[in-house]
Order: sequence, then structure tokens, then C-alpha cells
Amino acid sequence: MNILVVGSGAREHAIVMALQRSPQQPHLFCCGTAINPGIKHMTHNYWVGDINDVDTIVKHAKDWQIGLVIIGPEAPLEKGLADALWRNAIPTIGPKRKLAQIETSKTFGRDLMHKYNIPGLPRYRAFFDVLGIDTFLSELGENNFVIKANGLMGGKGVKVAGDHLHSLAEGLAYCNEILAQGQMVVIEEKLIGQEFSFMCFCDGEHIVPMPIVQDHKRAYVDDKGPNTGGMGSYTDVNHRLPFLEDKDVESAWEINQAALKALMTEVNEKYIGIFYGSFIATKKGVYVIEFNARFGDPEALNVLTILKSDFVAICQAMITSNLTIDQVVFAPQATVCKYAVPKGYPESPVKNTPIEICAVKNKTRLYLSSVNAVDGKIYATGARTAAYVGVADTIAAAEEISEKEVSAIGGQLFHREDIGTERMIQKRISDMRRLREE
Ligand code: AMP
Ligand code: GLY
Repeated sequence: MNILVVGSGAREHAIVMALQRSPQQPHLFCCGTAINPGIKHMTHNYWVGDINDVDTIVKHAKDWQIGLVIIGPEAPLEKGLADALWRNAIPTIGPKRKLAQIETSKTFGRDLMHKYNIPGLPRYRAFFDVLGIDTFLSELGENNFVIKANGLMGGKGVKVAGDHLHSLAEGLAYCNEILAQGQMVVIEEKLIGQEFSFMCFCDGEHIVPMPIVQDHKRAYVDDKGPNTGGMGSYTDVNHRLPFLEDKDVESAWEINQAALKALMTEVNEKYIGIFYGSFIATKKGVYVIEFNARFGDPEALNVLTILKSDFVAICQAMITSNLTIDQVVFAPQATVCKYAVPKGYPESPVKNTPIEICAVKNKTRLYLSSVNAVDGKIYATGARTAAYVGVADTIAAAEEISEKEVSAIGGQLFHREDIGTERMIQKRISDMRRLREE
């Protein structure tokens, strides 16, 4: 079978690796934005260009006689790549454009929750212009709001009161900045607690959960600094997280199922792809931060690294609506993923600087991301560079492996030393306990 993966970051590197482990030995192809040498050496053909150019991707899929496409990032979903591929009878993992609105428009996601009475919805309002913004900000209170641009911003369009915005005036100024870019503004009540990512495989009829992961959105140690695409993540041996109670997991699972059902009803289409609820456990229970229509990055790296089942068979079941829970087995191991990113990331990263990976011992768990290979050398292009996933019987042991290996990547890079450490995990547990007891 010929399988095409769209995208060339670490998430897609992990997807390609999982496909390559399949006993069905598929022939792999990639359409990417740059040459990721980790993906390139596993593929028969590799095209570099604009992955949002739907017609060109469809043409390549036809020329290469592709039998299945997996779309990694959200932007091509927004452009209707899945619609175009299905129209050409090419089965695709990744929802059609209307379904992908659950991620591509923050108001769509929030309004859907409101309309279908889905639990976990914070107070929110969307604004086309500045009218009424100051009243709503004052209603929420000086330290109690979050401001988001409505469209896709790569996780970087969100600013939180108290962390990034220090007064109502600063909040208003940020709203004006978003409006001036022609975007709608979404203002929400600020939720306090621990975030977690809960991704599922969906075949249009059935939904099968993956291990729950915690990502770290902030750039610096101790969750300081600006929001990023995600600096690293971990899972526990039991595929849950140490600070979550059973009832949190149940709530999130029910919300994922209800939201997916509501979405399919609303747009009258089958959802075939990854459905990913981003949640926060608070003292008042589990709330939804947002929904995504694809694998998380870095979350995909954690889960695909420990996927024991045949990923090709899972995809085949997804496109024929035959997916069962027994088909999806993950190893009972903990994982810790750490991203190395360019110095200055995310605001002013150094660009096109060489990196060196020869000192990384076990390269099967090294995932290259925003890199480009030129004349046998690898260059970091400015976004997150490369991630390493440590796998072990405890989070602490996985962290040790991940820390050592990510530190072995040479170049003008930095990473968060604290992700997955015993100190960080204990802090997550005690913060959550304190919040529940308040
Ligand atoms: P998003 O792009 O919606 O995933 O938001 C990026 C990050 O902003 C999230 O991972 C949270 O850390 C933070 N965030 C978003 N919405 C809220 C909220 N209502 N309350 C608190 N933090 C939030
Ligand atoms: N890890 C956050 C995201 O993929 O959106």
C-alpha cells in the first residue's frame, strides 16, 4: 500500500516511524515544507512545497497512486485537503473542512458546546469590534481573563491575564491588536488548574482513546514565559496522569464523545481522523480549553512511540468505520518528550543555524521537526527543532533518558530541563491537591 503523509515536522516524523513499524510494510511518501532527513530516508518520494496547496497535493497523491493519506497539521484541513482527497476517492485520515472548524475557529468550538449543552464550557464572548470589550473584561475582572485570536495561530495567539497581560488596559490593547489584523477576538474567563490532552482515534462511528498526555506550553522552566507550540510532554505507565482523579478522566472522555457527536450532527459529516480535547482540571471540575482536529505535537510523539499495534491496520479500520478498542494497544510504559528549540524561540528565534545529532545514542526516539537538510548538514529553521522521547517504567526514569539525549543535540538550542522531573510532577500533584481543597 502507498501511504502519503502530509507535513514534515516531528509529529509527522513520529507518524512515518509508526507506519514503518507495520508488518504490512507500506511504501511511504511525504509532502512537506522542508527536507526533514528523518522522514526522507524512510520515504520513496518526498515533495517539498506549500502543503496548503490542495490541488498540488491531490495531484501528487494521484501520480503516486496513494491508497491512504494522513494529514498531520491543521492548516491543510482548513483549506479542505481532506474534502478534495475524498472527492478523488483517496481515503484520508484527517477531517473535512467543515468538521475541522472545531479547531480552526475558536468561536465555532465554543458555540457548538453552548448549543449542544456540552459540559466544561467557560464563560466566553466573541467580538467583531471593540464595542463592549471593556465591559466584558471588567465583568470578568482584572486578573481573570484570557484573550484569543479566533483563527489558527499555532498556539501563540493566546494571552493570559496575570501572566502576559497586567491590566484591563493591556487587555484592551491586545484586543485592538488582534482586531487590527482583521481577526475576531474571543475573551474567556481564566481557568486555573492542570491542563491535559486527551486524543482519540475516530472512524466516523466509533471513538477509541489514546493515553492522556500533559504538554508544557510555556517557553521556560517553571512555566514562565510566552506560549509556544509546546516544549515537551509526558505520559504515565497507566496512560493517565498522576494529578488526575478517575472522575476527571471520565468527565473528559464523556466531553470528547459528546462534542464529537454534536460536531458530526451539526455539519452532517463523518469525522475520520484524530479528535483531541485539550482540558484543564480545576477545583470546579474539568473544563475545555479547546478542541483540535489532529494529533497534538508533541503529544503524538509520546503516544505513537509506545503504540504496539499495527498503525496501518488502525488507519485501514478508521477509513472503513471498523475501528475497535482491541485494535489499539499501547505499551504500559511512561514517556517523557523534550523539545530542543532555537535560542530566542518563540519570539525571535535564531534561524538557519546548523545542528548536530551524532551524539544522540538511540536515534529511533529522536524526532526532527523544523529543520532542513542541505548537503548532508541539518539546519534549524526557526520553530521547534527536534524532540527526544524517553521511554521507561517510571516517569522519572523516562525523564533521565530524555534529558540526556536532548542535551546531546548540538547547536544554538535550548530545552526545558524541568519537564517530567520528580520535582515538577510532585508540584503538579500538590498544586492540584491544594486547589481541590480550597
Ligand atoms: P489554546 O491556543 O486555546 O490552546 O491556548 C493556548 C494556551 O493558553 C492553553 O494551553 C492554556 O495554557 C492557555 N489558555 C487558553 N484558554 C484558557 C483559559 N480559558 N483559561 C486559562 N488558560 C487558558
Ligand atoms: N500540543 C499542543 C498542540 O498540538 O496544539
